[in-house]
Amino acid sequence: MQPTQTVDQNVQSTTTQLNGFWQGAVVYQVYPWSFNEDKASGATKGHGTIRGITERVDYFADLGVNAIWISPFYPSPMADSGYDIEDYRDVHPDLGTIQDFNELVQELHENDIRLMIDLVPNHTSDQHPWFKQSRASKDNDKSDWYIWRDPNPDGSPPNNWGSVFSHSQLFKRQAGEMPELRDDEPTPYLSAWQYDETRGQYYLHSFAVEQPDLNWENPAVRAAIQDVMRYWIDRGVDGFRIDAVNFIGKDMRLTDEPMNPDYIEGVDNPYDRLMRRYSSGYPDTFYSYLNEFADVLEEEEYRGRDLRIVFEAYMDEKSLDRINRVAPGVAGAFNFGAMGLDWEARLRKAQLDEYYKHLPPGIVANQVNGNHDKPRLASRIGEIPARAAAVHNLMLPGMPFIYQGEEGGFTDVEVPLERQRDRLRGRDIARTPMLWDDTNNAGFSNALEAKLWLPIDPEYKAKHLAGQRHDPTSSYSLYRALLAFRNGSTAVHYGDFSLLATSDDDVLGFVRRYDDDIVVTMTNFSDKDKTITSPELSDLAGEWVLSSLHVNINRPIDMSQGFHLEPHEAIVVCLQGIDR
Ligand code: GLC
Repeated sequence: MQPTQTVDQNVQSTTTQLNGFWQGAVVYQVYPWSFNEDKASGATKGHGTIRGITERVDYFADLGVNAIWISPFYPSPMADSGYDIEDYRDVHPDLGTIQDFNELVQELHENDIRLMIDLVPNHTSDQHPWFKQSRASKDNDKSDWYIWRDPNPDGSPPNNWGSVFSHSQLFKRQAGEMPELRDDEPTPYLSAWQYDETRGQYYLHSFAVEQPDLNWENPAVRAAIQDVMRYWIDRGVDGFRIDAVNFIGKDMRLTDEPMNPDYIEGVDNPYDRLMRRYSSGYPDTFYSYLNEFADVLEEEEYRGRDLRIVFEAYMDEKSLDRINRVAPGVAGAFNFGAMGLDWEARLRKAQLDEYYKHLPPGIVANQVNGNHDKPRLASRIGEIPARAAAVHNLMLPGMPFIYQGEEGGFTDVEVPLERQRDRLRGRDIARTPMLWDDTNNAGFSNALEAKLWLPIDPEYKAKHLAGQRHDPTSSYSLYRALLAFRNGSTAVHYGDFSLLATSDDDVLGFVRRYDDDIVVTMTNFSDKDKTITSPELSDLAGEWVLSSLHVNINRPIDMSQGFHLEPHEAIVVCLQGIDR
């Protein structure tokens, strides 16, 4: 009997195909400002540095990650924590130099760890030389590198598009700073248009005012971004996480967005009052632009480099599916599906069904539990479920992404108003410094506390990673064991995937299989003990290798007795004795 007979027949198996390094690579996201300040130079800047990342390459190796992605480290006025870029080809002077970057690449590669960097193609900083030139007049080389339009006859903006960063409007209203609004009136979003005195025109900014949108209709802009990619590939970079990419595809007739009937006042971002039909992800241009990124990776010169792209786009499943079909050999969209879900088996199952069913052949899937834009995993779903969510994600096919600190089970940290850096959306809570050890400032920096980038979690003495490394059942030890297991398992790296029918709706099981190598993962999403019987698996002998609660188990399991799962426990079992 084969485990594939036990699966939900609605779910297709992924193709059993070895797709190079990225097929099962674990990618670790580094947020450079809060990762680590280098100690060797004796610096006391109070924030992370590129050399600080290099000093922690041993850490990546110990944890067992295969690649890192670094959020923007470029020169930036920091209106959007570095996503407002002033120069695409340099390192922020506070973070280090290009030489430091070169050394980081070298150190990573010597440790067989690849490097992805953030590419932000939709907008630059308003301090980027391209924008400074563009805003200077209507008839210079760069005048149409951004999206400029005349005001309407009454002086109002060219259309009704809104800025993603409209949360502040809600905060203002809640603080009573919009007294003119009636109680039943929805909070206005911020216009995506900013009037510029010099040109006497508006420019478009889908995000902050300081982040003008590049004009992707202009082939020179697209060519310039491709050149930026080549610049970094030539420096040894192995791939790109491409930021907010859906925004490069717009209806350039600037059709007004219809209103969104599902908007919930007081809960949603006021930006969500609008639909997103014309201002982002506009299909007529969007997908062909995506091809242009992939084209660079496939250039003759880069043959054999095995480069990779992951597109960041918060879009509906159908659009993500189209993104995944653009260049499945080298690029795919982030799978954010699970990140927004409550901790419920039913929801996760539906998401897995949906996601794996639609993936085109040959693509590398991915799984995300968190990133720098969302509250931390353990704060969203709870510390114990977070451990089970790690097991679950890390056993699924494709590239799992780990956001820095997730491996330590870190939680959000309250940041007082006067220390906040992200005034746009209040995302600092998930961006506070890493907790390395129990020394001053948790080993993050030798600066005075008041000078630190963001405050350190006050509970760091109980949570730091050095301590967790000595505790065999800590969150860190769990991640380390999972990655060690994953890195040694052909089934987890390359195997087929199929959902397993289980006897309990609160338990989600799946099977990974590559020839004789079979791995079953079971996750209990409830707060009750469960004994799961699975008649199809009952004749099988297995070895129970990992538990989200107890970490390394390594003991034989008799399947006829069923699987016993504690509340919010996930387990990994290697099977043998399959009758084939
Ligand atoms: C992406 C980034 C986010 C940033 C935004 C604008 O969503 O992840 O941090 O603010 O794009 O660049």
